[in-house]
Amino acid sequence: MTPLFVWAQEQLCDLLGRSARRHPQAWEAGPKTRLLIENGCGASAEEWLSTLAQAFPGPEQPFQVRFVNNRLDRHQLLPEAQVYLTTHLCQRLLKRAPQLNWIHLAVGGVEFLEPLVIPAHVKITTAAGLSAAGIAEHVIGLIIALDRRFDLAFGRQRRGRWSQSGILEHIHTLRGKTLGILGMGHNGQALIPPARALGMRVIGFDKRGNLRLDGLEKLYGADGLPNLLRESDFVVVCLPLSKETHRIIGSEALAWMRPSAYLINVARGGLVDENALAQALRRRQIAGAALDVLTVEPPPRSHPLRGCPNLLITPHVAGNIYTFRKEIQQQFIENLKAYLKRGEYLQSELAFY
Ligand code: GLV
Repeated sequence: MTPLFVWAQEQLCDLLGRSARRHPQAWEAGPKTRLLIENGCGASAEEWLSTLAQAFPGPEQPFQVRFVNNRLDRHQLLPEAQVYLTTHLCQRLLKRAPQLNWIHLAVGGVEFLEPLVIPAHVKITTAAGLSAAGIAEHVIGLIIALDRRFDLAFGRQRRGRWSQSGILEHIHTLRGKTLGILGMGHNGQALIPPARALGMRVIGFDKRGNLRLDGLEKLYGADGLPNLLRESDFVVVCLPLSKETHRIIGSEALAWMRPSAYLINVARGGLVDENALAQALRRRQIAGAALDVLTVEPPPRSHPLRGCPNLLITPHVAGNIYTFRKEIQQQFIENLKAYLKRGEYLQSELAFY
C-alpha cells in the first residue's frame, strides 16, 4: 500500500468517525449478543427480521440485530459487534472489530481470507457447499450447450437463419465421454451423480489424493494434473483460489488438453490464465470453453477474451439461485442457535486457523 493511499484511507476513516458520532444507529447497552448483518447479505433486512422472529419466537430475543446500509453504519456498529454476517472481510475491518467472536461469510469462495491474520478466538463459518447442486446443474447445462453448439444455433436463430451446417456433424453423445473435475470439494462432488447419469466417465484431481468417492473412476493427486487433462473431454474447474492454485490453467495446462476438449470454470476467474486461454481458443488449440467467472467482473472492454471463438460466458450466476438464499438463512439460524448456547459446534466452520 502506498503512503498516499494509507493517508487517504485514514482521512476517510476520520471523516466517517466524525459523522458517525452524529449518526443515529447504535447498540443498546446490556448483555444481549450484538448481531450485525450487512444489508442484502443472503436476504433483505425485512426478510432477516422475519426469519429471526420465526426462529426465536417470544417477546424477548437473546440478541439485538442491526443492519449495515452504508459505510457510516459499519463504522459506527462494527467496533462493538460480536457476530457479523457478511460476504467479505479485510484486515482493516477486523482491526476495527475487537469484540467479534463469530463471523459468518455468506459465500462459498473465501480466497480473500488467505492473507488475513484472524485472531484465534474468532470463529469463521462459510456457505461453502450450499449452492453445489445449483452449480452442478449449471455445469451440466454448459456441457450440453458446448457439445450441441447451442451458441451457433441461437446465433442463427437471432439472425433469422435455418442451417444445420457446423452443428449436425458436431453433435455427439456424452455417453462414454470423460469428465475431469479439478477440485473434489462440495461443488466438484455434486457433479458426479448427474454426469454418471448421462453415462459419462468421471475422473478427479485433488491434492487430497486419498478421497474415496462413489462414481469417481480415478482420482489424481497433486502431481496428476497433466494426466487428468490429457484424459478429459470436458475439464471443469471447481478449485478454491489460493496462491497454490492461481492460474493453475495456464498455457502449459491448456497444451496438455485434447484439441477436442472443452474447459469450464465455475470457481474463480484467477484459476485460469485468461490471456493463455484467449490464445488457445483463437488458435483452436482446444475446442471451446465456458466461463461463469472472470478475474475482473464485469470484464473491461479490453478484456482478452472478448470476441473469442467457441466461448460461452455466464455472468457469475452458477451458484446464485433463489434456494441458495433460503439455505443461507437456514444455515445461519442453526449456527446462531448453537452459538447462543455457547460452545456448540457451528456448521461449516473453517478449521485451518
Ligand atoms: C460465489 O461465487 C460464492 O463463492 O459463493
